[in-house]
Amino acid sequence: MSSKTVLAINGSPRRKGNTAELLNHALRGAAEAGAATEIVHLYALDFKGCISCFACKRKDKEHGICAMKDELSPVLERVKQVDAVLFGSPVYFMNITSGLAACLERLFFSNYLYSNEIPTVFPKKMPSAYIYTMNMTEEHVRQYQMKEKLHSLETSATHFFRVPPRTLWAYNTYQFKDYSLYESSIFSEPAKAAWRERHWPEQCREAFDMGKFLAEWKE
Ligand SMILES: Cc1cc2nc3c(=O)[nH]c(=O)nc-3n(C[C@H](O)[C@H](O)[C@H](O)COP(=O)(O)O)c2cc1C
Repeated sequence: MSSKTVLAINGSPRRKGNTAELLNHALRGAAEAGAATEIVHLYALDFKGCISCFACKRKDKEHGICAMKDELSPVLERVKQVDAVLFGSPVYFMNITSGLAACLERLFFSNYLYSNEIPTVFPKKMPSAYIYTMNMTEEHVRQYQMKEKLHSLETSATHFFRVPPRTLWAYNTYQFKDYSLYESSIFSEPAKAAWRERHWPEQCREAFDMGKFLAEWKE
């Protein structure tokens, strides 16, 4: 049994959407490995992204602390205390959501110094992971070079936590409970339903294994 804690940060506004579902499977995997688990829904919090105040870079101030005080502040502190962190986001206009981007600006910038000697002040090595969910198929992701576009997030996690993150890409997600209610003629609902039936259980399993891996991670 581990006495670790794995924290999931949901960057989707939907608490019961695809992203939250995969994050919860990952937390179940972590729990199976004996870890305590927590989830934060960013869109339930009142916060902003980095305001470029540079308090985190001042020579006369403690480093690694974001000076903005709002409902994200306890989350940023919690990330330092836990043993692994999982970020989840739907793809919005070929990017992560503005909510997760705002959170990562604050987390990463406050742990970053403009110094070659001290590139990160994050207090420890820690495993992390990103879960992305999207309407796009795997083919679209290749075509639009999505993995290359979001690669800088992996680079940042490697830089700040000093361990390369794991990633999970969930393609062709089911967006509406009832497609007939929405203008959505670019999608074939039966094709989406067939994809989901075939692939969603595998992706949930992949998330579960990822959570277990994070909880069992050893240097
Ligand atoms: C504002 C908005 C923008 C979106 N942009 C994209 C996009 O660029 N590419 C894509 O594949 N899906 C896009 N989607 C679809 C979501 O990424 C997809 O439905 C996702 O699985 C939703 O996750 P959730 O269920 O956790 O909210 C968009 C959805 C919204 C609401």
